[in-house]
Amino acid sequence: MTDSDQPQGSAAPSTQPAVAGAPAGARRAIVVGASSGMGAALVRQLAGEGYKVAALARRSDRLEELAASCAEACAASGGRVVVRAHDVTDHGEVPELFEELVEDLGGLDLFIFAAGVMPKIEPREYSTTKDFEIVEVNVKGCIAWTNQVAQLMQTQRFGTIVGISSIAGDRGRKGNPVYCTSKAAMNTYLEALRNRLSEVGVHVCTIKPGFVATQMTDGMEGLFWLAKPEQAAAQILAAARNRANVRYVFRRWWIVGTIVKSIPSFLFRHLNI
Ligand SMILES: NC(=O)c1ccc[n+]([C@@H]2O[C@H](COP(=O)([O-])OP(=O)(O)OC[C@H]3O[C@@H](n4cnc5c(N)ncnc54)[C@H](OP(=O)(O)O)[C@@H]3O)[C@@H](O)[C@H]2O)c1
Repeated sequence: MTDSDQPQGSAAPSTQPAVAGAPAGARRAIVVGASSGMGAALVRQLAGEGYKVAALARRSDRLEELAASCAEACAASGGRVVVRAHDVTDHGEVPELFEELVEDLGGLDLFIFAAGVMPKIEPREYSTTKDFEIVEVNVKGCIAWTNQVAQLMQTQRFGTIVGISSIAGDRGRKGNPVYCTSKAAMNTYLEALRNRLSEVGVHVCTIKPGFVATQMTDGMEGLFWLAKPEQAAAQILAAARNRANVRYVFRRWWIVGTIVKSIPSFLFRHLNI
């Protein structure tokens, strides 16, 4: 069985901290890409469970709204949402910001990289500008943040890293070549980190969503099995808690992923998927 084979464990949400080997009761998380979609839903769920969460993205107004919407849940759970405007393409800003956030949270148990872009690419378009933006956010942004987190978790010898990749990274699809490439790069990077960090008890979980109803998919046609962001977030946290290596969300996308990966290239190039 390989990393991308049948995921294990239950998809049911749990009240346990999503952390391998963390101190008892520790609930400190950073979510990058938290202003909408799955990232925002993850912040809401974590805040409701009593986490201190740092929520980052570019749109500070959306982050402030998110924090306000969590206030009641935080009052009941003891959680806290700290927001910070940040553009992940400012890679040089990451080390200092990371250090500040960890100090503010009092440590770190869970890191989730949810930031991503998927600009519309026309069938015959080759836009280096759009393609490089995808790489800057989805790949370099992920590496800039996750390297910092890996360094800390390697030293403290506990923690969970979650990267939201995509089923799109399983093949080179004709629709958006560099989006697929960016997610394939994430998959390989996260797998390599998992192999390194498992030696010190740190877990790395790769999430491959199918279709989720977020700003990213808004207006797209032909979508099916569309998950709500809240459903996806519950499955993502369950996967992290169950120490899944790779988890498709919904889990039924694993069947699609397995079939799609087995289609020979000479047939795949004729399919509009
Ligand atoms: N929706 C789907 O069907 C689907 C399927 C597979 C995988 N995914 C992946 O899931 C992840 C979350 O996407 P979503 O579906 O929840 O869509 P979304 O609502 O568009 O969320 C994307 C998040 O990324 C943030 N982001 C984008 N560029 C950024 C930058 N330069 N700096 C900091 N943050 C940035 C956005 O915040 P700001 O714009 O405020 O910065 C937003 O919070 C993405 O990686 C996406 O590729 C989505």
